[in-house]
Amino acid sequence: MATTKHLLLLFLLILTMITITSSTSLPFLTTEQNQIATKIIDAMISSGSFEDWSGAFLNNNDELNGPVLTSTLFLPKTSVEGINATSPLVASYHIVPQWLDFSVISLMMPFSRIPTLLSGHSIVVTNNSASGFTLDGVLISEPDLFVSPSIVIHRMAFPFNFSRYGGGHI
Ligand SMILES: *[C@@H]1O[C@H](CO)[C@@H](O)[C@H](O)[C@H]1NC(C)=O
Ligand SMILES: *[C@@H]1O[C@H](CO)[C@@H](O)[C@H](O)[C@H]1NC(C)=O
Ligand SMILES: *[C@@H]1O[C@H](CO)[C@@H](O)[C@H](O)[C@H]1NC(C)=O
Repeated sequence: MATTKHLLLLFLLILTMITITSSTSLPFLTTEQNQIATKIIDAMISSGSFEDWSGAFLNNNDELNGPVLTSTLFLPKTSVEGINATSPLVASYHIVPQWLDFSVISLMMPFSRIPTLLSGHSIVVTNNSASGFTLDGVLISEPDLFVSPSIVIHRMAFPFNFSRYGGGHI
């Protein structure tokens, strides 16, 4: 009985640790990087539409005018009922704090996970064939739409659905 109690306590302790860890910001972002990320996401969600995300992203992450967040934006081409361009969760999930041009992404194997700015949620490689490379089941319709030394934008056929593919864990 004592053992069961100890196991239960240990389990609760681990659960608490997991909960605390997953609710904090990405461990590898500095305070400054987090501030840039917040600024970009705020601008994107106030732009109102997926179409305007790219301008908001570029204007607030300009390597000529200050510090940038090295990152990749997945820019949806069309909107989808139920996935809102003004949601901070949706916007955060479409940004990866890494420079991933198509030559890097195309080497990733199916089921590889790419952590996003939405804490605890990642994008998954669903098909890595050259003719139909998909992430979260969505086709990369225009790879490398924009590429600079610190930023990449890929156009996606549709927005990602983080509830379905995000994994809920790193
Ligand atoms: C998107 O979210 C905004 C703000 O929460 C809300 O006003 C709007 O009605 C939503 N649009 C859709 C299509 O869900
Ligand atoms: C991946 O995409 C290619 C090209 O669209 C298709 O032929 C293939 O069946 C897909 N593979 C899987 C596992 O869905
Ligand atoms: C997103 O995924 C959830 C969970 O699978 C699903 O219930 C919801 O309908 C999906 N939303 C869209 C717009 O496909």
